Amino acid sequence: MSRFGLRHTNPGGLKIGIKEVMKNRKPGRLYHWHLDNARKALSRGQESWEANLPFTSTMHLTVSRANVKYVLVDNFKNYPKGEIWRSTFRDLLGDGIFNADGFNWKKQRKVASYEFSAKTLKTFMFDTFVKHADKITGLIGDSIGKAKFATLDVQDLMARYTLESIGIIGFGVSLGAFSDLGAEISSSFGDAFNTATARTSDRFVDPTWPIKRLLGIGKERELAESIKLVRSFAMKVIKERRAEAASGKEGANLQDLPDLLSRFMFRTKGSGEEFEFTNEELYYIIINFVLAGRDTTTNSLTWTLWELSKECNKRCIDMILQETERNRVELGLAEGEITHELVAKGSYLKAVIQEGLRLHPSVPLDLKECIEDDVLPDGTEVRKGDRVLFVTWCMARLKEQWGDDCEQFRPERFINEDGNFRPPEATKLPIFLAGPRLCLGKDMAFLSSSILLTKLLESFEISGGESQEYQYDVGLTIFAEKGMHLRLKFKND
Ligand code: HEM
Repeated sequence: MSRFGLRHTNPGGLKIGIKEVMKNRKPGRLYHWHLDNARKALSRGQESWEANLPFTSTMHLTVSRANVKYVLVDNFKNYPKGEIWRSTFRDLLGDGIFNADGFNWKKQRKVASYEFSAKTLKTFMFDTFVKHADKITGLIGDSIGKAKFATLDVQDLMARYTLESIGIIGFGVSLGAFSDLGAEISSSFGDAFNTATARTSDRFVDPTWPIKRLLGIGKERELAESIKLVRSFAMKVIKERRAEAASGKEGANLQDLPDLLSRFMFRTKGSGEEFEFTNEELYYIIINFVLAGRDTTTNSLTWTLWELSKECNKRCIDMILQETERNRVELGLAEGEITHELVAKGSYLKAVIQEGLRLHPSVPLDLKECIEDDVLPDGTEVRKGDRVLFVTWCMARLKEQWGDDCEQFRPERFINEDGNFRPPEATKLPIFLAGPRLCLGKDMAFLSSSILLTKLLESFEISGGESQEYQYDVGLTIFAEKGMHLRLKFKND
C-alpha cells in the first residue's frame, strides 16, 4: 500500500519498452496507441503505466486527473521541467521561459505575466489579428477568384496567420508569411524555425544525439544550421532596436512600442520589481514565445476548422453566425464589425474552440521530472530522476470523465445553464497545463482564434472534412501530417 492508502500500480502494472515505442511512434498511430494502453491499464483498475527506454530514466504515463493535479499544482516544486527536457531543448530555447526552472523561470514569468496583462499589448494584439485575418480572407478570396470554389490547405493558411502575427507581436517585424499562396511559406525565419523544432523533438527518441551533436553530423547538423539562421535573424532585430534606442533619435517612441521584444527591452518590470535583460536573454525570451505561441495556435485552428467542415457539425457554424449577429445587434455594431466586446461575448464560439482543443490538444502530451522519490495519488511509485508524462489527448477520450459521447464534437458541453462559456477545470484537461506554469498565452490564443474564425466563417462556406481521414504527425505539437485540404467557397455563391 502507498502512503495514500492506495495500491501501488508499478508491481504487475502495464509496462512498455523501446520496441513497442519504435513500432508505434508513427504518424496517425502514436496517440491511438497511448489510448489503447490507457484502456488496458484502466481495465486492470490502474490509471498509469510505465515506459522503460534505454539510456534514460523510467517514464510514468498517466491519465489520472488526481496525478495531474498533484504533479502540476500540489507538489509543483518536486516536478520541474528537469534536466533531460532542458538539455534536449537547450540549443534552441536556451534558458527562456519555456525551458527554464527555478529563479530563471520565476523572473521571466513575473515580467511576462505583467506585460501580458497590459492594455497596450492587448489592443496591439487585437488590431494585429484583425488585420491579419483580413489578409487571410483576402488570400482565400483571390484563390477562389471566379471559380466556384477552391480546395486549399488550411493548415498552411493558419501557419501563415500565426507566423506573421507572432512576428509583429513578438518582434515588431513582418516575417513575409503572406507572400505567394501556393508556394511554401517564403520566410526563411519560419522555415528555419520549423526545422529547428522538428530536429529538436527527434532528440527524444535518439539517445545518441549528444554524440552526433559533437561530431556535427546527420540531423544534428541540420539543427545547428537552422538555429544559426534563426539566431542571426532575431539577433539582428534585437541589436538594431537597441541601437535605435541608444541613438536617442526615436528613443522616447521606442519605449512605447507595443511588441514583446520592446516591452522586455525597455519596460522590464514585474510585480513592482525591476529586471534587466541582456541581448542574449532577450533572444531566448522571444524565441520561446515564438515556439509557445505559433504552432499551438496553428494546430488549434486547423483541427477546429476540420471539425467544422464536416457535414455533421454544420449546425455549429450556424450557431456561431447567429450568436455573432445577435451580439452585434446588442452592441450596436455595423455589419461585419469586430470589437473586443464582440469577441468577449462569443460564448458559443469559445466553446467551439475549446471543443476543438479537447479533441485535438495542440500539446498532446507533456512531461515533468521528479526531484525527490515520491508516490503519486494513484499509488504509482516515482523515483528521483523518473519522469511523469500525462497524455492529455487520451484524457479527453475517457468515457469515465466525459461521457459516452466523448469522441464526438459537441461544444455544448462547455456551455452552462445560463448559456455562458464554461471552460473545463485545468486539471481535468491540461490543454494549457495547470498550476504555476499555466500557459501565459491562453487568452491570446482564444482572441486570435475567435477573430480568424469569425471572419472566415462569415465570408466562406467550408466543407470536405469527412472526405479524407487526416492523421496527426509526430512531434511536439499536433500537425496534420499531410496538410488539411478543405473546400472553400464564397457564401451565397
Ligand atoms: C491553442 C494555443 C495554445 C496552447 C494549446 C498552449 C499550450 C501550452 C502548454 C501545454 C504549455 C505548458 C508547456 C509545459 O510547460 O510543458 C504552455 C506554456 C506556455 N505558453 Fe502556451 N499554448 C497556446 C498558445 C500560446 C500563445 C499564443 C502564447 C504566447 C505567445 C503562449 C505562451 C506560453 C508560454 C510563455 C508558456 C510557458 C509558461 C511557463 O512555463 O511559465 N501559449 N502553453
